Amino acid sequence: MRPGVLLATALIAMCGYGQQRARTAAASPPDFTKDIAPIFQKNCLGCHSSTAHKGHLVLESYDSLMKGGRHGPEIVARDANASRLIQMLEGTEDPQMPLESDPLGKADIAVIRSWINRGATGPTPGSLPNAISTPELPALAPQVPVVSPVASVKFSPDGRLLAVGGYQKVRLLDPDSGKVIAELPGHADVVRSIAFSPDGTKLAAAGGEPQRGGEIKIWDLASFRLINTLRGHKDCIYSVAWSPDGKMIATGSYDKMVKLWDVASGKEVRNLQDHIDAVFAVAFSPDGKRLASASQDRTVKIWDVATGKRLYTLSDASDGLTTLAYSPTGDQLAAAGYDKTIYVWQLGDEDGRLIHSLIADEDSVLSLAWSPDGKTLVTASSDGSIRFRDTDLDLKGVIDRQPDWVGAIDISRNGKWLAAGRYNGSLSVYDATNYKESHSMMVFNKIEPAGISSSTEAAQR
Ligand code: HEC
Repeated sequence: MRPGVLLATALIAMCGYGQQRARTAAASPPDFTKDIAPIFQKNCLGCHSSTAHKGHLVLESYDSLMKGGRHGPEIVARDANASRLIQMLEGTEDPQMPLESDPLGKADIAVIRSWINRGATGPTPGSLPNAISTPELPALAPQVPVVSPVASVKFSPDGRLLAVGGYQKVRLLDPDSGKVIAELPGHADVVRSIAFSPDGTKLAAAGGEPQRGGEIKIWDLASFRLINTLRGHKDCIYSVAWSPDGKMIATGSYDKMVKLWDVASGKEVRNLQDHIDAVFAVAFSPDGKRLASASQDRTVKIWDVATGKRLYTLSDASDGLTTLAYSPTGDQLAAAGYDKTIYVWQLGDEDGRLIHSLIADEDSVLSLAWSPDGKTLVTASSDGSIRFRDTDLDLKGVIDRQPDWVGAIDISRNGKWLAAGRYNGSLSVYDATNYKESHSMMVFNKIEPAGISSSTEAAQR
């Protein structure tokens, strides 16, 4: 997958007018509502609805399709061959869709191909006149993403910096004013996870290209210079953690592996192999002796950092786990994911005991954080809410009606602030004691040609 995938939506936005002109010149391109949606309805919604969303992909609407799945957008407008959706329907990309049933008929695939190659436009924009006077747009779209999600957020240990990861870059903000202090560019793709070194002098930003490989860039925060780029894993990295002694970094990847890296040499020191599906979250225990990893395979595994040995597996969850957090004391661990449930285990040396579980949200839990004082667990869910709970999982407060999915949250070390980054490129900082929004900003703005108004921007508050 190329950076180009993120411009799928860009192309659509920009091709809207061109499409109208094309329609008068040639036979009508397939229409999303009439021709495409029914194919998904019949063959895909069993697994790709807002309740099932396998592969993190919802095919219920044009918007959710264009939002894409776990690997990002599935459609590259005007390039069916490059679109993952087509590759997976035709079986050039594993696993072939629809999963566990006969491939789609040639005619259905041809219609979807043609719809993509003709611009992958949304439900008929009936409001647009077929006017010939619409401005000509350049045939070549600029090679930039139109909107980058906030894929990761982290407060620095001293709370003076907020690092925000998006498409190919990290922005360092002043959490009080939202002012950009520095920008760390040049990342291969979306920066999906960020970790500060415990002394706050360095930052690790991880991601990489889906299906190609993982990348971790280590930045010096005094000079904002790149110190090193570590490469490894066969797919992108979803989570990075820095060991409490500052010497090691751990990563979890879609390639099912967990790796430990030596920061000083930049070398991979261990490959921890035991998960049978993508690893979405890793965390060191506060004493640095253990590493926990959470996976799409529904388990959390606890590893011994010194030996790389797997100590035990926590397998209570009924669906993939997207996020986990140690309690500040390190004797408990919480994890959550697609089954909407928060699980809390009491950790021992040889096994862990489930002490709480609760269906906590109305949809998948995307991110979870444990407050530094140990008293609050916070979840962000694709139901559009951020919920605060005590350690018995009783609800303390809700911030609901988020304008878009909150994929990343972090609590400042002093427990005062909660940062929430959203899929639409926006970020809010909330007072974690009274759940009030302190401020909100667009971290990653839309880039688009002049003259086309942006509905996303208009929706910002
Ligand atoms: C029986 C369940 C099932 C059906 C039916 C199904 N899928 Fe999937 N789909 C999955 C699963 C499971 C994954 C995740 C696979 C993985 O990541 O290894 C997935 C992943 C995908 C992805 C990749 C998402 C990403 O970004 O990683 C695409 C695209 C996709 N499906 C398209 C379709 C389409 C189009 C249809 C209908 C023609 C369909 N699927 C029908 C189960 C299904």
